[in-house]
Amino acid sequence: MFNVFGSKNVLGVDIGTASIKIAEIKKGSPKPKLLNYGMLEASAHLERPNEAIQASSLKLSERQTAEALKELLNQTKITTKDVIASIPSFSSFVTFFDIPVMSAPDTQKVVSFQAKQYLPLPLSEIEIEWIKVGEKDTEEGKKQQVLLISVPKEQIIKYQNIFKIAGLNLKALEIEGLALARALIGSNDTEPILLADIGCYNTNIIVVENSFLRYNNFTDYAGASLTRAIANGLGIDARRAEELKKNRGLLAAAAEAELSTLLLPFLDVIIREAKRAINSYQNSSGTSIKKVILAGGGANLLGIEKYFERETGLEVEIGNALTKVDYPLELEPMAREVGNTFAVAIGLGIK
Ligand SMILES: Nc1ncnc2c1ncn2[C@@H]1O[C@H](COP(=O)(O)OP(=O)(O)OP(=O)(O)O)[C@@H](O)[C@H]1O
Ligand SMILES: [Mg+2]
Repeated sequence: MFNVFGSKNVLGVDIGTASIKIAEIKKGSPKPKLLNYGMLEASAHLERPNEAIQASSLKLSERQTAEALKELLNQTKITTKDVIASIPSFSSFVTFFDIPVMSAPDTQKVVSFQAKQYLPLPLSEIEIEWIKVGEKDTEEGKKQQVLLISVPKEQIIKYQNIFKIAGLNLKALEIEGLALARALIGSNDTEPILLADIGCYNTNIIVVENSFLRYNNFTDYAGASLTRAIANGLGIDARRAEELKKNRGLLAAAAEAELSTLLLPFLDVIIREAKRAINSYQNSSGTSIKKVILAGGGANLLGIEKYFERETGLEVEIGNALTKVDYPLELEPMAREVGNTFAVAIGLGIK
């Protein structure tokens, strides 16, 4: 959405439910370069979930978010002003449909007409964009597969205000799924891959095939569900539960094995969503998913890769967006964590 631009450095901004992450990217070839990055984590939501930065049921406070962004820019000494930001899954509406192959202008007309039947709001209140993501032969002839993205204008205005207050130029907005796909899927990966971005209050589940986003869904079971399970199960406060989750994960020693017992039912809900996506995609595309990539803070849970592998029967790896950029040598010791945690922000920055 909006225009692409000519300037050299871009700031990818990922406003999540519990943190704001930014990645400063310098355009370049053969690879763009990650110049700087930073994250501001909110923690008040641990005790009071309604203090999350945003959630499907919450309104994003423009001024507070802008202030947080300014603070983050101060801390990181980043001066780049041109921003590409992500729109969370719960603020957008994504759908896929097939139409006959035709010229781009005709496709435009047909998509606008078709869009009306898929959209939750009248066209006057919504901004739409479509992308052709594939072609397939059917009994009725060759069809093109269209990804339709719509975002309420109210939401777009909100983002424009946030960046204006923060003194930044919002150049483009993009749904998280597209940024994730760009950051984590290699151009040689032609087979379909399932990607699960386990955040704090949201898990995004997408399928990418031939570099195109082909399935996009989300569930609100995510990192916070796991923390809550520990807090409730052990009768401890959320901060302590968060600490235990991060330090021990699924690899707790025998004395703490209870931790896994508490975590697994919630992890299973996320895995069930992933399996549902796999089945749904395989049924409609006729292709089969062989690999799962995990991303987001939740992918740092110790032992998650093995458990996902066992439950899905697929190869599982942790996403690394740093393969798409050059980065300073000093970053090497933290590469694994940065490449995963900043996937959306980096994906936006290299658009
Ligand atoms: N080492 C770790 N082990 C387990 N969980 C972790 C670890 N590190 C971070 N997390 C969890 O990751 C979550 C935050 O992930 P992330 O930063 O991707 O969220 P977000 O982008 O702010 O949220 P969302 O994507 O839902 O909007 C928190 O629930 C946090 O507890
Ligand atoms: Mg996120």
